[in-house]
Amino acid sequence: MTITAAPEALLHQDPRQFRVLAGDRPTGPLHLGHYFGTLQNRVRLQDLGAAMFVLVADYQALTDRDVAAGLAERVEDLVLDYLAAGIDPARATIFVHSAVPALNQLLLPFLSLVSVTELDRNPTVKDEIARSRRASVSGLMFTYPVHQAADILFCKANLVPVGQDQLPHVELTRTIARRFNERYRHRGAGIFPLPDPLLSAAPLLLGTDGTKMSKSRGNAIALAATADETARLIRGAKTDSRRHISYDPAGRPEVSSRVLLAALCQEREPEQVAEGIGAGGAALLKKVVIEAVNEYLRPLRARRSDYAKDRGFIRQLLRAGNARASAVADATLTEVHDAMRMRQ
Ligand code: TRP
Repeated sequence: MTITAAPEALLHQDPRQFRVLAGDRPTGPLHLGHYFGTLQNRVRLQDLGAAMFVLVADYQALTDRDVAAGLAERVEDLVLDYLAAGIDPARATIFVHSAVPALNQLLLPFLSLVSVTELDRNPTVKDEIARSRRASVSGLMFTYPVHQAADILFCKANLVPVGQDQLPHVELTRTIARRFNERYRHRGAGIFPLPDPLLSAAPLLLGTDGTKMSKSRGNAIALAATADETARLIRGAKTDSRRHISYDPAGRPEVSSRVLLAALCQEREPEQVAEGIGAGGAALLKKVVIEAVNEYLRPLRARRSDYAKDRGFIRQLLRAGNARASAVADATLTEVHDAMRMRQ
């Protein structure tokens, strides 16, 4: 493993030396798992003053054939979720894969730097193939991690906030950057930095059915859910039959995940939250969680519905972000072509 420890200390010393690239596939509404897993961290990095790029990975969404339809609306909904979570379009560059041609062109030289064996070994891709239960696997499924390297390297990002499942892709990005730099030096120097992943400290949140919260499992609480929907989902969530509420993630995963959710929303320690509920049992636990989540999401929901009133503004914001990202991608592609002696 060549990945280094998260540069948390440096972030506080000098956030301006960081260029952050974060991204999501526009495959459905973002939920509380995304929020506490990564969105909150992105907003923190933005607020610390790091340069921030946020990518709506529409080309990558094509790995899942079920979401290819209705993509335009999903893209706008994802941007609404970003804005609701606190990504600030004045400070962050929000953009879409398909609107940044030079980013996509980096895929070709990058593909030449990896072997089919390496692509075939990627554990996250293997897992996605297994879960897709399709008779045939598209070429994009094997190559999207290389495209993801282009997402990260086009803007020379050095920090990538991700979940655990994305670590193989960041590792591949580092490999591609290193190989490009070694093979094609530009005026004696390598073009690309080797990016570090930044794993969020928040532990995994379970969905209402007790498995990992995930949009494809239908067990998630979306950021866009109303207060009533949220209450209904939490009331129906799995707990266990022991009356006294305690925080014990290994022994009581469902109950502990509910406690954790309330704790994250109230910025308290989960042990404290559990103690406060104690003999109140699952009914009181759910009441506490519903109140904590709805209270926490109130300002996010208000922001979301404000922005949702003006779809024209969302499209305008994307045009501006796409233009900014394109200027950066054009400059990097020019450097790449120079280094490869391809410039006419
Ligand atoms: N693969 C990521 C996901 O499924 C989305 C993504 C695309 C991404 N490009 C990226 C994440 C670049 C980090 C960096 O969630």
